[in-house]
Amino acid sequence: MLIQGLLAVSLSVTGAPAAAAQAKTDCAKVKCLALTFDDGPGKTTPALLDLLKKERVKATFFLVGKAVEERPAIARRAAREGHAIGNHTYSHPSLPTLFDDDILDELAAAQEAIEKAVGRAPAMFRPPYGHTDDRVRYLAAQEDLAEVLWTGTTLDWDLRDAKKIKAAVLRLAERDGVILMHDTVPATVKAMPGIVKELKKRGYHLVTVPTLLRGKKLEAGVSYPE
Ligand code: NI
Repeated sequence: MLIQGLLAVSLSVTGAPAAAAQAKTDCAKVKCLALTFDDGPGKTTPALLDLLKKERVKATFFLVGKAVEERPAIARRAAREGHAIGNHTYSHPSLPTLFDDDILDELAAAQEAIEKAVGRAPAMFRPPYGHTDDRVRYLAAQEDLAEVLWTGTTLDWDLRDAKKIKAAVLRLAERDGVILMHDTVPATVKAMPGIVKELKKRGYHLVTVPTLLRGKKLEAGVSYPE
């Protein structure tokens, strides 16, 4: 009994630094890339989380508030497994077409749904369709949200073909890149094992957006990557 107890203690001690080391990937020193997934959580999200866990890869999920209310356990799981969580509005409208109050409501309702599901409100948001302007960013700042866009979009929702999606990701991959995909597109989830394998082979460390940004504090109302 005593030996088992000691073993458990030593395991937990040696386990802690390993986890810390992974969280501290220094993207100033190594080649990093952030895979980001919008519009979830959806039916196909758990299969994606399984793969990311198996490959020890961290990603960033921009969640739709309404979808979080439908599948709170999946949102919670993504956060618990070390992925970064962002706000993708409550009902996915094109924000610049809305009045100020409606933009604030969209962002606030998603913050609330996400906080309720995962225990913490996000520090970043991604505007649906990438539709944004100074007014949207100004209002987002009132919700303490930084804006996160992307360096490359796969148009996976349009391609709907695992081979084509993989080719698009590999074409768009670059150091410090932010790749936009959707965990709600089944072909994207299907393509992901091949994508992760090839990106690792090319020397990429697949990290969350905050890690990619060297852990510097995201400033509300500012758009990233700068
Ligand atoms: Ni979207």
